[in-house]
Order: sequence, then C-alpha cells, then structure tokens
Amino acid sequence: MLESFWCKNFRCFLDRHFVFDKNFTIINGKNGSGKTSILEGIYLSVRGKSFLTGKNSNLVKRGMEYFSLKTIFEGNEIKAFYSVKEGKRVLSLNGKMVSSGEISHTFPLFVFNGRLINAIRKDLVSLYKFFNIILSLYDRTYMKEYMEYKRALNEKRALLTSKTESDTIFSWNRIISFKSDEIRKKRILFVKKINSYLEGDISILYKIKDKKEEERLLFKREIEQGRILTGCHRDRFFIFKDNEDLRFFYSSGQQKNIFFKVIRAVGNVFFEKTGKNPVLLLDDFDSELDVDNLEECLKSVLNRFQIVLTTTDVRKFKTFNHSLIEL
Ligand SMILES: Nc1ncnc2c1ncn2[C@@H]1O[C@H](COP(=O)(O)OP(=O)(O)OP(=O)(O)O)[C@@H](O)[C@H]1O
Ligand SMILES: [Mg+2]
Repeated sequence: MLESFWCKNFRCFLDRHFVFDKNFTIINGKNGSGKTSILEGIYLSVRGKSFLTGKNSNLVKRGMEYFSLKTIFEGNEIKAFYSVKEGKRVLSLNGKMVSSGEISHTFPLFVFNGRLINAIRKDLVSLYKFFNIILSLYDRTYMKEYMEYKRALNEKRALLTSKTESDTIFSWNRIISFKSDEIRKKRILFVKKINSYLEGDISILYKIKDKKEEERLLFKREIEQGRILTGCHRDRFFIFKDNEDLRFFYSSGQQKNIFFKVIRAVGNVFFEKTGKNPVLLLDDFDSELDVDNLEECLKSVLNRFQIVLTTTDVRKFKTFNHSLIEL
C-alpha cells in the first residue's frame, strides 16, 4: 500500500506532504494546482522514470538547485534525489542505493492518463509497449530475457545494416529465435491469465507476426534488404469486444470503459500472484466519461487497486467513499 509522499522543490511545490487512503484518495484542485505533479513524483520514485517524459532538470522547482522526494510504500522508504549541479538522479530504498528496475518490481504501480489511452487508440505499438511493461513488472525474468533479446537484436541489426556477410549473423539468428520462443511462451500464458479474468465479450488477442516455417526465407530476405523482418518485437496485442477492435469501432467513452475492464483484469492477475492490490494513479480520468460510465469505470478498478485520482471537480465522485486532498 502507498502510504505517503513528501516532496521538496518539486515542480510547483516547495515542501509538501500527502497521506493516502488504503482504498481511494482524490486529489482535488484547479488547473495548475499541482495534481499531476504529485502523481509524477510518486511514479518517479517508485518506477524510477517520468510519465510526463520531462527531463529531471525541468522537474526541479524554478530557481532551486535540487528536488528531493520520499515515498512510503508498505512501510518502506523510497527516496529520490536529483541535483541540477550533478545532473544525476539517485534512488534509495530503506537507505540503500538501488536501480529503478529493482524498485518497480517490488512495488507494482501503474498510471493511467489521457496520454496512454490516446496512444493506445492511435497505434498498436503503444498497446504492445503497455503489455510489455506490465509483463516486465509481473515477471522479473521476462524483463531480463527481453533486455537480452533487445541486445541481441541490436547486434544483428548492426551487422545487417553494415552488410557484413558473416557467420555471426546466423548465430544471432539462432539466439534471437530461441529467445523469441521463450518470450512468446510467457506472453501467451500472461494473455491467457488476463483473458480468464475478462468478461466473455472482451478479450486480448496476441498475434505472432512471423511464422516459424517462414523463418529461413525471412532470414534470407533480411540479408538482401539489410533490415530485421523476424522476432517477437514485431508481434502485437489487440483488444476486442464483441469481435470488434477497440481502436476502430467504439466511441471514446466506450474505449475507456473497455480499457478499464482490461486494467481490472491486470490487477486481478497481480493480486493472484502477490495477494496485494497494486496501486493505480488516475490522471485525466473523468474526461470523456458521462456520469454512469464514470461510475462503471471506477467500480471496475476499485477494490482491486489502491487508487489515487486527480480531478478538478470532486462532486463527480460523491457516491464513492474516499479521502480527500484539497490543493
Ligand atoms: N519546474 C517547475 N517549477 C515551478 N513550477 C512548475 C515547474 N514545472 C511545472 N510547474 C508548474 O506547476 C503547476 C502544476 O502543474 P500540474 O501539471 O501538476 O497541474 P495540474 O493540477 O495537474 O493541472 P491540470 O488540472 O491543468 O492538469 C503548473 O502551473 C506548472 O506550470
Ligand atoms: Mg494535470
């Protein structure tokens, strides 16, 4: 459980401390009051990176020399510190320096914002990245394998673009093909688990791009064309409801509704593994949603996640038990 967050010289905040409810906290405030900044600070500490894709130096309050964050998560103290002068962000867990990867696996935390849903509406690569990140958080060995796979891919790409005729390409092919199989097995299992928690009319489809029997032919083509045409990084995930692709058939509000059901299923899969509710940070949640849909989306994820939600109009949530942070 996310317990509290303290920030110093972070974006618009000089020195503030926030405490969260174990189920549902609402951060209410006008535009520019700092709502997204709080979520950004928590995310930065726990996941070790920004979801606003801001540079660290932009996160330091104007005129200050450093920012300092402290998040308490399940009794653990996660600290993040960045000084403009040193230009480096340092993370620590209970006083010991750690890498961002180590922390994000210990404390599953997700963010949902307008940017994510827009990206998923637009292209399949974003949905692929979404599932890849979730699977990396779910399974530490998956992340390791995927990173090794990407390294092998880069080696092969370099050889292909330099048009070096070399046996080394064939050994990379073998390695990449083997790792692709391992990664795909994990993805198939993971999607099966998520689907088992989804209502019958919604499902995730994982599509493998290249066929095993075509591999030889594709390897030959890769050398001719000087680019990679095989491997599990080219596979894609799709979300379907009533046999219609989420991206094309549904309205914006319906897309959110379906996506929240997927998020709930993801939460269930994490809960099944850890026995704990993951944390879900909801920014830009209420845009595009009518009253009924807002209730349905929120109900989908409440009780399966600890939720921290930002809004400019807390009245919309009066039917839900919550604790309030007023900015
Ligand atoms: N490095 C910084 N130093 C000082 N202020 C900053 C810095 N970075 C951002 N801000 C300011 O912090 C304020 C809060 O931004 P934030 O995005 O958190 O607001 P918000 O409450 O989420 O607003 P909205 O409702 O419009 O989404 C903004 O006015 C922004 O200009
Ligand atoms: Mg905001």
